[in-house]
Amino acid sequence: MTINNNTRLIGLIGSPVEHSLSPSIHNALYDTFDMNFVYMTFDVKANELQKAVEGMCALSFAGFNVTIPYKQEILKFLDDIDEEAKMIGAVNTVTLHNGNLKGYNTDGMGFIEGLKRMGFNPLNKDVAIIGAGGASRAICVYLLKEGVRCIYLINRTHQKSLELAKEFNSQYNSEIIIPIEKQELKCANLDLIVNTTPVGMWPQISGNPLEDFKFCAHTVVVDIIYNPKETRLLQEARRQGCTVQNGIDMLIGQALESIKLWTGIDISYNHCKKILEGNIL
Ligand code: ATR
Repeated sequence: MTINNNTRLIGLIGSPVEHSLSPSIHNALYDTFDMNFVYMTFDVKANELQKAVEGMCALSFAGFNVTIPYKQEILKFLDDIDEEAKMIGAVNTVTLHNGNLKGYNTDGMGFIEGLKRMGFNPLNKDVAIIGAGGASRAICVYLLKEGVRCIYLINRTHQKSLELAKEFNSQYNSEIIIPIEKQELKCANLDLIVNTTPVGMWPQISGNPLEDFKFCAHTVVVDIIYNPKETRLLQEARRQGCTVQNGIDMLIGQALESIKLWTGIDISYNHCKKILEGNIL
């Protein structure tokens, strides 16, 4: 990687940021594809978000990513927010053009691309989503955009599923999102199950959000966890004949969508995965 007078900066702001895989992913790609960008992380203190944003504008950053705990708070500093990100209520990617800041959420975009790569088209499909936090909201919004038939929503705190369903159903003027208790979930008509909770993630890898569940082989099961590469949920679903996908697709997918927004360059997923696998992932 050569850094010269034309090198543009791209930032990740959040706190903490030291465990993020994003700098390794982005810089490996910029290097391989000869893109004159450098990706750096910035641990921003609670009362300094505005200053950090102003600094990145003053220094003509090409754009930046936003992570915990600023994905919601960043909204108030933006000039424009993409429609889906507005509905999700969280932004993880900001573009910067002539001082104009526009926010997007590429998590849901990356997730949908991952499904489509498996040949799964969400149109008119029945889906179950476990979890009702930020990742669940992003995935719900993009599945709604793709025209799913219904989303069964299961969450440890049932009240949160009720609230999320009420909010999104009223925006879509529909009853597409159906909050249910875990024990009510039956595989028969499910085309897709998605885990958005940290249950099963390293170091508590023995966790399974659907312990003792009987899967149907036609159901596709996605876990957005990428460490371990195969969670107990995915092991069990695969053992029962399901097609499964881990969180690496969404992790790479959201990075590629952000790069597309900042640079206009569309990097192929498979090429990217080859570069990162065994090295960074
Ligand atoms: P993210 O942005 O990654 O989605 P989040 O907004 O904190 O993170 O949401 C985490 C989700 O995982 C929530 O739905 C949470 O359930 P609660 O609403 O009951 O908190 C769920 N979750 C986290 N830890 C869990 C656990 N040990 N068992 C079941 N669900 C869990």
